[in-house]
Formats: sequence, C-alpha cells, structure tokens
Amino acid sequence: MIESVSLSDFRNYSSFSADFSPGLNIIRGQNAQGKTNLLEALHLLASARSFRSARDRDMLRFGAEGGFVRGVVVLPDGRRSELEARLFARKRRESFRNGAKLRRASDFTGTLSAVLFTPEDLELVRGGAETRRRMLDLCISQLRPRYAGALSDFNRLYAHKNRILRDFRENPSLLPPLRDFNAGLSETGAALIYYRAAFILKLRERARAVHLECSGSAEELSLTYKTVRGVDAENPDRRTILDAILTRQEELYDAELSSGQCLVGAQRDDVEITINGVAARNFASQGQARTAALSMKFAERDLMSEDTGRAPLLLLDDVLSELDAARRAYVLERIGGGQAFITCCEPIEAESLSGARLLEIDGGSLVSCISTFPAEP
Ligand SMILES: Nc1ncnc2c1ncn2[C@@H]1O[C@H](COP(=O)(O)OP(=O)(O)OP(=O)(O)O)[C@@H](O)[C@H]1O
Ligand SMILES: [Mg+2]
Repeated sequence: MIESVSLSDFRNYSSFSADFSPGLNIIRGQNAQGKTNLLEALHLLASARSFRSARDRDMLRFGAEGGFVRGVVVLPDGRRSELEARLFARKRRESFRNGAKLRRASDFTGTLSAVLFTPEDLELVRGGAETRRRMLDLCISQLRPRYAGALSDFNRLYAHKNRILRDFRENPSLLPPLRDFNAGLSETGAALIYYRAAFILKLRERARAVHLECSGSAEELSLTYKTVRGVDAENPDRRTILDAILTRQEELYDAELSSGQCLVGAQRDDVEITINGVAARNFASQGQARTAALSMKFAERDLMSEDTGRAPLLLLDDVLSELDAARRAYVLERIGGGQAFITCCEPIEAESLSGARLLEIDGGSLVSCISTFPAEP
C-alpha cells in the first residue's frame, strides 16, 4: 500500500503532500481541481508511466523546469520503501528507490502494483478490438513476464511480415523468407493465444460474478475470446493452437499475397462482450457499459491478488457517475479488501464507511483530510 505521497510542480500541484488510509481513500473536489492528476501521480509510482500522456513535460506544472512525485510504500513484510520520479522539462526522468538512483525509469515497477479505472475504460466495451487486446496485453504482461517477451517478438515479426506483403511486388527477393516469418509468427502467436485464452477463462468467471451481483442478479456478462479459426479457446493447449495457426496460414497464404494484408494471427484477436446475450458494444446502456468495464477491472484485481498474494492498489477515477444507487452501493462495498482511491465531485455514501479517509482537493491544494473511525473490533 501507499502510505503517503508528495508532489512538487506536478500538473496543477505546486507543492502537495498527503497521508492515506490503508483502506478506502475518497478524493473529492469540484471539476478541474486536481483529482485525476493525483491519481495519475499514484499510477506513475506503480507503473512508471502516465496513463494520460507519454511526455514527462506535460506532467510538469506549466512553466516549471523540474518537479517530482515521491511516495512511501509499505511492503508486505512491513518494511517501507520510498519511490521517487524526478521529472524534467528538458532532460530525461530520474528515478530513485530509497534515495538510490535507478538505471532505468521502469526499474521501480514491481514495488507497487495498481489496477486503474478511468472513464476512458468504457472504450473496453464500446471501442474497437485493439482496446481489448491492449487490456489483455497489459494485464497478462504484469502477471507473466514471459508474455511480454513473446509479445515484443511477435510485434517485431508482424511488422516485418507486413513490410514483405507490402513491398514484395517491387522487390521479389523479399518473398522467399516469408515462410520463415510465418513460422516465427505462429510460434510466438501460439504463445500469446495460449496465455490470452487461459487468462480470459479466469477473468470471465470473476467478471461475470461481479456484474451479476452489481446488477442485482439482473444481468449476465459474458466474455468470449475470438481468435484464429480452429483454435479451441475453451481448452487452450499450446500444440493444438500452433497446429490451427499453421493450417490457417496455409489456407490463406495466397489470399495474403493478393490482398497484401496479414490475414491470420493474434493481431486480429478480440474479446466479445455480451450482456444477457446481446452485444454490449452496440446495445449496452451507459450504466451497463460502465458496470461491465468495472466488473472486468474488479476481476483483474482479484486475479492479481490471487496470483501474487497481495491486492494491487485500486485507482478509480469518476466511476460512480451514471450508476444508480444500488450499483453505487455495490461498488463501494466491493472496493474493500485492499487499498483503494476513488475520485468524486459529490458527497458519497461511503463517507460513513469505517476507516475511510476523505481528502478534499481544491485548486491543487488539500483543504481538508478527515478519517472516519474504524469500526469497533
Ligand atoms: N501540466 C499542467 N500544469 C498545470 N495545470 C495542469 C497541467 N495539466 C493539467 N492541468 C490542470 O489541472 C486541472 C485539474 O485537472 P484534473 O484532471 O485533475 O481535474 P479533476 O479534479 O479530475 O476534474 P474533473 O472532476 O473535471 O475530472 C485542470 O484544470 C488542468 O487544466
Ligand atoms: Mg477528473
């Protein structure tokens, strides 16, 4: 968990520090006061990346030359670790753990893990397949470092194959190695598909349960992995996945040459989301889409907790809008079981929850910080 944070010239914060509850932290304030910015800072400590912009200078307060995000993390064994990202307008970021400079910015990832929900995550339900593949890639890479390796090999081979398919007519010498690229792509692609299929089997069961409960048993969320034809995603097995890809590659070899496009492989994967049997992408209401996206996030947190033995931080930006009272109450209840940060503009029911901390933010300053009393043991 994260015990405290201090910010200097980060977004709209010139100088800020706060201590957090190990349970629920409610970050409340009017629009444009810095609530999402604070979540961004926390996320930066977990992932070494901004969830909003790739550039460090965008995270610096307008006009500032440098700034930092510093946080004290309590590790599972009770020891404390201080993480710091120093951002600069004109040079590369410097990262520190317990005062020692790290070689790479990403080296402090792993100390803290986080699951983030932002309103953009509605794209998981509404958006194109690419958004859902990115979600799979991010989640599985956090859990299985080998997956991240296979993914980068796959992407490299895929880019190469695309170049061959684009240019072989002008340059026929490109064509002979195509079969080698196909072989490499089917090997690495089979690894990706295997991990994705296994991950979705676990995720969907948990997401379904969350969605069902959140909707008062009214809605059944179903996730179905769509991948290369012939792959049995319900019973993932490396060997049969590889065979299915190889068969499909042969079938579509000529079609790929004539269309100049890569028609087989994990790059076309998708996850079909339905609610009560109806495609969520086209037919879900706002509240339903939000519930589905949130259910997937809760499922992701559960999976990470089971896998690593500790609950990741839950960062929820503006989740409660569009949810009715019953769904809000369920979300607030379900947040328990780890440290969570939730932003909102209005007072929320959870302020009476025991052990919650309410941080009021106004114009990049903490104007009040109230803790509710923990329940009597
Ligand atoms: N680099 C920066 N320097 C200074 N201010 C910034 C910077 N980046 C963003 N801001 C400002 O910070 C303010 C607060 O942004 P933030 O997204 O945190 O608001 P919020 O409290 O989450 O509001 P909402 O309730 O509307 O989501 C915005 O007005 C934004 O313009
Ligand atoms: Mg916001």
